[in-house]
Amino acid sequence: MKISVFGCGYLGAVHAACMAKLGHEVVGVDVVEAHIASLAAGKAPFHEPGLPELLTEALESGRLEFTTDASRAADATVHFICVGTPQKRGENAADLAYVRAATDTVLGLLKPGDVVVGKSTVPVGTAEEIADRIAESVPEAQLIWNPEFLREGFAVKDTLHPDRLVYGFRAGDAGAEAATVLDEVYAATLAEGTPKIETDLATAQLVKVAANSFLATKISFINAMAELCEATGADVTMLADAIGHDARIGRRFLNAGVGFGGGCLPKDIRAFMARAGELGVDQALTFLREVDAINMRRRVRMVDLAREVCGGSIVSRKVAVLGAAFKPDSDDIRDSPALSVAAQMQLQGAQVTVTDPQAIDNARKKWPDLAYAETVEDAVRGAEVILVLTEWPEYVALDPTALADQVAAPRIVDGRNCLDPATWRAAGWTYRALGRP
Ligand code: UDX
Repeated sequence: MKISVFGCGYLGAVHAACMAKLGHEVVGVDVVEAHIASLAAGKAPFHEPGLPELLTEALESGRLEFTTDASRAADATVHFICVGTPQKRGENAADLAYVRAATDTVLGLLKPGDVVVGKSTVPVGTAEEIADRIAESVPEAQLIWNPEFLREGFAVKDTLHPDRLVYGFRAGDAGAEAATVLDEVYAATLAEGTPKIETDLATAQLVKVAANSFLATKISFINAMAELCEATGADVTMLADAIGHDARIGRRFLNAGVGFGGGCLPKDIRAFMARAGELGVDQALTFLREVDAINMRRRVRMVDLAREVCGGSIVSRKVAVLGAAFKPDSDDIRDSPALSVAAQMQLQGAQVTVTDPQAIDNARKKWPDLAYAETVEDAVRGAEVILVLTEWPEYVALDPTALADQVAAPRIVDGRNCLDPATWRAAGWTYRALGRP
């Protein structure tokens, strides 16, 4: 099938490559020339395991093309909208400018029988607006809302083998027919037995933000328990293990630490609250305000803990920060707790050096005033305290004995509860962590 993908950022680039992998003929369209040039040369403009190989294979096969020329998508039958919905500057609401621009472009190409598929994360009600516009201009074309749940670092796997597929569309024969077209697109995925939920537009849009809100709540719940643990001398990692054995709760997403960041969870819960306000049901989501507040408090606590470990002041202290990405296996620094803590430490007078295996270039652009080192060795030389803020496997595997020779004082604060306290203490380190005695 001939498919177009509008928006070739994180979601769109991965989606386009994966659709080509499934055997379709795909054209990826974006307005950012540099982005398209990079993708067309087989280079992913961000770090995502497995994506470069997939891009190369698909481009070489001739099934995948990237362009800024939207007219190249005119003969496609299925048009995916994969553009970003960032947080509006100074507001909680999502900025829909890219969604509206992509919709305009798609409407200009649409033919009877075409299916527009929305994948972007949008405030509920947006899909209905798009469906109305399609109905006005090409009544024989249909919209399906088909949210994406991919995690950075697992984006290829999550796209090819998702936990579920959600189709939202308006009741009627035409919608059901469009769903069969989308079934053809996902034939290989559906053949694996992937569950499919067919529903209305509003539910489909809500599934995505509800899922992200639940995940954010789970993380903030365990981080709130970490605050209780800190006040009582309890251990949040053992608490998480113990409650996680209850299958109704589950252990995943109960890792306490410096909290969630990235391009999705923080902005999605804020946009969801803003939308609930517009709908007159803001009380239903006031708990998300707490979820956000608990999350932001962990960053402050991390700075306080570092200060405590340094004997009450971080002024002029040499601090090594391990990690800049919002999570491992990513070079994404959007709303990264690691960089937020690093910047706060620097603002309060510490001499901070940040290292990260993938995210240094991005970090430098956003936070040019911080000092950066390419390697852990360079970052920790002469450090009076080390902060572990992103749990990259190479940091988890660090040898405390070897590292002790390179620092000025063997002190470490584990912001991700990813190190073994006993091992570090046995090697002579002062080890502290969030939510652990
Ligand atoms: C998230 C959702 O998981 C995904 O389904 C959605 O489509 C997009 O948003 P992503 O932002 O890639 O994906 O990262 P995720 O793995 O969910 O982690 C988000 C943040 O939560 C990271 O900063 C991570 O460090 C933090 N986190 C995660 C915790 O602090 N504790 C945990 O137990 C899990």
